[in-house]
Amino acid sequence: MNASTTLPPEPAAAADILQAGRPGRTIVLVGLMGAGKSSIGRRLAQRLSLAFIDADKEIESAAGCSIEEIFERLGEQAFRDGERRVILRLLDDPPHVLATGGGAFMDPLIRARIKERAVSVWLHADLDLLVRRVSRRSNRPLLKNGNPRDVLASLMERRYPVYAEADIRVDSADGPPEQTVQRVADALSRFTQRPMNGTST
Ligand code: S3P
Repeated sequence: MNASTTLPPEPAAAADILQAGRPGRTIVLVGLMGAGKSSIGRRLAQRLSLAFIDADKEIESAAGCSIEEIFERLGEQAFRDGERRVILRLLDDPPHVLATGGGAFMDPLIRARIKERAVSVWLHADLDLLVRRVSRRSNRPLLKNGNPRDVLASLMERRYPVYAEADIRVDSADGPPEQTVQRVADALSRFTQRPMNGTST
């Protein structure tokens, strides 16, 4: 047979292509409000044929009211307690793509469980992009504590050093979401194919 003949992929190779970027663990998206965790997460899940879960939506259905109402009626601490319960439960589920609220990865217990059970992806975005994105919606309780730019800048200062503990960092692009999804999928493929002996170049 001619050496240049292209053969259809072996079944095993086709399976490899589908598996590329699927680490066999839940993929957890972390990042500040406006980084695009839900929009990227939903598209990424579709691409990888995994289920998508939005932790904030799960918290709302467990509480029977919106996050805004939880903050108003019960306060932030009650929200954080509910958030912890819901995310720890979701991390016991079979592998899926999980978008978390911006404060979740700051909780030491949630962070430890994510490190143990999941692959974390930090969707990094600069302040101007975040401010532009959050201005489209006005239902985020923390942004009512002052000027959104100042609130986000102060959250960035506190949270970015902790988000940096995520397994993977991807810059959230200001273009079509597919561009960022591609970056995340590429980064996940590299992550799943990395040598496991701890050496890196
Ligand atoms: C929060 C972010 C929100 C939501 C809640 C608190 C935070 O989720 O969980 O309002 O502490 O940053 P998004 O990051 O999806 O907006």
